[in-house]
Amino acid sequence: MDEHSLHQETPLTRMKREAGYHAAGMVEDGMVIGLGTGSTTYYAMEHLSALIDEGLRIQGVPTSFQTEMLARQLRIPLTTLDTYPELDLAIDGADQVDPSLRLIKGRGAALTREKCVAAAAQSLVIVVDASKCVDTLAAPVPLEVIPFALQPVILGVRALGGIPELRTGVRKDGPVITDNGNFILDCSFGTIGEPERLEGILTLMPGVLSCGLFCAFVEKSVIVVGRDEGCRELRL
Ligand code: A5P
Repeated sequence: MDEHSLHQETPLTRMKREAGYHAAGMVEDGMVIGLGTGSTTYYAMEHLSALIDEGLRIQGVPTSFQTEMLARQLRIPLTTLDTYPELDLAIDGADQVDPSLRLIKGRGAALTREKCVAAAAQSLVIVVDASKCVDTLAAPVPLEVIPFALQPVILGVRALGGIPELRTGVRKDGPVITDNGNFILDCSFGTIGEPERLEGILTLMPGVLSCGLFCAFVEKSVIVVGRDEGCRELRL
């Protein structure tokens, strides 16, 4: 997330805010929710904080250090999957969404915890601006890989026709290290014809902790698309 962009109002930040605020409005008193990661989820948390000030009682499970720190700043009470292995709802962002509500996630390298929280939640509310909606998923697919298995996973991705690229730090030399102490491989496959199949194959590779394709949650998902002219909800 570009922290500075959050403070400059642009058409894009307006769409993200629309989506985030709308999603926060779907949270009911007493719920235990998953708190995703990224610049669109930021707006959901901002609005949740205001609703908490007005009396809403919730607890949130954060999906990254960034979200945990933000939740503390915003006075959103935190809990864990140890205490609540089942969640009422999760709010999270996405990098791409297709018409079947399948997702690519992981730009912020938080995909593993995001997938755990999505799996634990009864419903998954995905907040995106309109630019994220595509006909066919085609963005690079992030894989969280344990460092020990990096080279075999690179070979495995190439054997599938993918182009893997080790994600490197911006204000850090060398590879990005995730909140779980692992590497991220961004894997380009061009347009992805069979996302479920690719997710299955990548997830089964030894050393891959998780894959940024999220195809298993479509039945319980609501996509909140922020647009210039307000929000639209997409469901199956
Ligand atoms: C974090 O790892 C990601 O999955 C984000 O949720 C996703 O990249 C969306 O982020 P933005 O809302 O910042 O675009």
